[in-house]
Amino acid sequence: MILLKPSVKTRRFRRPILAEVDPMAEPILKVEGIHTYIGKHHILQGVSFEVYSGKVTVLLGRNGAGKSTTLRTIIGLLSPSKGTIFLRNRALHHLKPYEISRLGIGFVPEDRGIFNSLTVEETSAWPCFRKMGGLGR
Ligand SMILES: Nc1ncnc2c1ncn2[C@@H]1O[C@H](COP(=O)(O)OP(=O)(O)O)[C@@H](O)[C@H]1O
Ligand SMILES: [Mg+2]
Repeated sequence: MILLKPSVKTRRFRRPILAEVDPMAEPILKVEGIHTYIGKHHILQGVSFEVYSGKVTVLLGRNGAGKSTTLRTIIGLLSPSKGTIFLRNRALHHLKPYEISRLGIGFVPEDRGIFNSLTVEETSAWPCFRKMGGLGR
């Protein structure tokens, strides 16, 4: 997911990166000021970003930075204590995971619990296949 702002400069080339979002475009996904706790641990502390149609969006960070927690919050496996998440102007942050899934957002976890009959491409795309009625296997 794109976290870099147009003002962000690379250390080496000193020029903006990932600055090509149409300023008039509406984001498909808008995460704003999310705070998420796991037990007593305050893991996400004000995460905000936008995802736009036609762009590849990447969420980068060291191990333990909160990437998985961010995605688990978006798909409703964790509830944010504060902040908002909108998918095409529809609020997700109070919905259950199955309701969020039905709105067309999928999640492929990084764990090793994968189907060994699927290719890497099929594994990455299975939330989309599910919406189309399954893989037919
Ligand atoms: N179930 C959990 N219980 C306690 N702390 C957790 C749990 N899951 C993740 N964390 C902590 O939350 C932080 C973010 O983890 P995570 O979102 O998995 O990071 P990433 O995916 O970026 O590696 C880490 O400090 C991790 O130890
Ligand atoms: Mg992770």
